[in-house]
Amino acid sequence: MINKICCIGAGYVGGPTMAVIAQKCPEIQVTVVDINETRIARWNDEDVNNIPIYEPGLVDVVRETRGRNLFFSTEVDKAIEEAEMIFISVNTPTKTYGVGKGMAADLKYIELCARQIARVAKTDKIVVEKSTLPVRTARAIKDILDNTGNGVKYQILSNPEFLAEGTAVEDLHAPDRVLIGGDTQTEEGRNAMQALVDVYAHWVPKGQILTTNVWSSELSKLTANAFLAQRVSSINSLSELCEVTEADVDEVAKAIGMDSRIGPKFLKSSVGFGGSCFQKDILNLVYIAKSYGLDEVADYWEQVIIMNDHQKARFASKLISTLYNTVSGKKIAFLGWAFKKDTNDTRESAAIYVADILLSEQAKLSVYDPKVQEHQIYFDLDYLATRSEEENKNGVTVTNDPYESCKDAHAIAVLTEWDEFKDLDWQRIYDNMLKPAFVFDGRRLLDGDQLKNIGFSYHTIGK
Ligand code: UDX
Ligand code: ADP
Repeated sequence: MINKICCIGAGYVGGPTMAVIAQKCPEIQVTVVDINETRIARWNDEDVNNIPIYEPGLVDVVRETRGRNLFFSTEVDKAIEEAEMIFISVNTPTKTYGVGKGMAADLKYIELCARQIARVAKTDKIVVEKSTLPVRTARAIKDILDNTGNGVKYQILSNPEFLAEGTAVEDLHAPDRVLIGGDTQTEEGRNAMQALVDVYAHWVPKGQILTTNVWSSELSKLTANAFLAQRVSSINSLSELCEVTEADVDEVAKAIGMDSRIGPKFLKSSVGFGGSCFQKDILNLVYIAKSYGLDEVADYWEQVIIMNDHQKARFASKLISTLYNTVSGKKIAFLGWAFKKDTNDTRESAAIYVADILLSEQAKLSVYDPKVQEHQIYFDLDYLATRSEEENKNGVTVTNDPYESCKDAHAIAVLTEWDEFKDLDWQRIYDNMLKPAFVFDGRRLLDGDQLKNIGFSYHTIGK
């Protein structure tokens, strides 16, 4: 029986997941730790609305559990020492240096966690990989723990996260499945798996909790994301074909999606997928395939990324060519910066890459996103290192009013499908823009006919 859980990493995965575990398992004490003091301070903010992650419904879960059996702390060692089960939910960004640069996952944060656990632990621990990791990482964690530990016994489980941002709480409450990988060959391994099954069984039907060996579990996470991303790239590839024929990509998506073998989900054409997982996981898959000499397998999956990069670049090019081949000095309003609606996460957001291209063409951008903060937008652009921080500051303004953002603009680009954009006063926006007034809808979000009636020159994807 597990009484105390510790989670290392209070981010988009660790935060919501632990909040829901605490909610559903009131007898288990859950402590989420992070080295980022500001982040922990925000999780502990008296006003629960100030928690650092925006997810619909999350505030209510945190309000219910925080201080009851959910705690946020920077005392990593203490939490590790007390817990019987430790989740590792730290970030595993793509490497930006050395071997595997731009492809392999950077495991330094994971390794640091493993070493910290090894240093601190005095009693047996079940260590759960929650971060998305390359296959065989569990082996590496086990090596570190077994070789530097204090004679403490460890069981390593893989429990990949399938929640999607923007619907995290919903996905956690009613997951399609929970996957638990472990050492199925030994009794200790099976017991550890059962301990985690028992946690989820508080609210997830038993039939939806799958147990597998650790490698299957790790690979399933990467490939589930690869399959989803592949669908988006597939429909996006068709969007370009639709634009040069008389076809409409939404009609095509609907027609093929009604085939029950294909299904309707993840066939929404867009300016390109973003998020912390899709690109990273596919790059990982490609890297793993390459490292085993499986070049055809690697090339096959890499094409999903190539298509996505093309879709982002194509959107920017179309905007530039439509604006008479120059955006130099022109104000372009960006509606949306997050990688999808209902999240304040911007990792790998298409908006960043579209902005980068337009800034290189000397456009002046004015960004409005309902949940993304100004410093994050500058951070995202500076991170690309295409130009100096000062040039990014000069090229981009951030407002908290969509009308202000669109005022005197030559064009509007819709980069995130926030519902509120549909309900804007488009006549008012039109009246305050330069003419001709262009809208480039990267999400097929707006009512094109209504906008054309107002007078906009409306351009969308796949039509
Ligand atoms: C994804 C997986 O869905 C989730 O199971 C996993 O745990 C983490 O990675 P997430 O990245 O949060 O979740 O969001 P998701 O809803 O999958 O969207 C990813 C990107 O694809 C977004 O930029 C989204 O806008 C885009 N997308 C999605 C499309 O462009 N069209 C679609 O039809 C679906
Ligand atoms: P994810 O989407 O995977 O949750 P995030 O970047 O949102 O990724 O969250 C990961 C968190 O892990 C960050 O808040 C980071 O500070 C934290 N972290 C990274 N390494 C450590 C560590 N060694 N100890 C504690 N926290 C860590």
